Amino acid sequence: MKINVLFTHNSVDEFYFNEKTTVVIDVLRATTVINTALFNGAKEIIPVSSVDFAMKVSGGVFGGLTLLCGERNTKKIEGFDLGNSPFEYSPDVVKNKSIVLFTTNGSKAIVKAKYSENVVTCCFNNLEAIKNYLLATNKDIEVVCSGNNGHFSLEDLVCAGKLVSGLTESIEDAILSDSASVSMVLAKSYGKNLKKLLHSTEHGKVLKENGYEADLDYCAKLNSVPIISHFSSGVIKRLN
Ligand code: MLT
Repeated sequence: MKINVLFTHNSVDEFYFNEKTTVVIDVLRATTVINTALFNGAKEIIPVSSVDFAMKVSGGVFGGLTLLCGERNTKKIEGFDLGNSPFEYSPDVVKNKSIVLFTTNGSKAIVKAKYSENVVTCCFNNLEAIKNYLLATNKDIEVVCSGNNGHFSLEDLVCAGKLVSGLTESIEDAILSDSASVSMVLAKSYGKNLKKLLHSTEHGKVLKENGYEADLDYCAKLNSVPIISHFSSGVIKRLN
């Protein structure tokens, strides 16, 4: 099994993912929000890559069953139902709802991976579940870190590195790209205290400045939301 890690999704175009098994990571906070919403009973998530498209998609869907969600500069977008904090996606709010989600980096990375054979979304909260899914699927893996506006995000790469480390413990013949090897080194040095890590990264600091400190602690919890979130034909659904 070959494993590659992309530091951001900006270095490739959508055709790169043709037929691949792809894992998209945006620890702060898109993939954490997606997994939380599905865990709390949302029917599906529809990731979109522009606000205009989010408006169009949600406008065409029967009222009351769809929530228009996401952020710009970490804050809820005017006219949207929810922002991008996992605490907004409680069971009473999201149960049986279709969620149209636009975020600055994460939703765009997922949409870009649409030609993959399999796409799953990963964060610290569902790391073990995704690892087990990938082991069962037994295909070469592309791990895509969403990053931040084209720049690398340490928290995404540490999450990728923990995933790669877990996979290599179970697979004898894993072939790692250079970036996959580097991700494991980073996970080893920065991944011991995830709370501390998220409070210290660039995006973590911005979220703290904007009043989302509690989100950081939530996003740092390992395996607290053990679901497999699978993206296919434009929607993300829970597999387990
Ligand atoms: C993103 O997709 O860039 C993030 O989820 C931003 C955020 O923390 O809200």
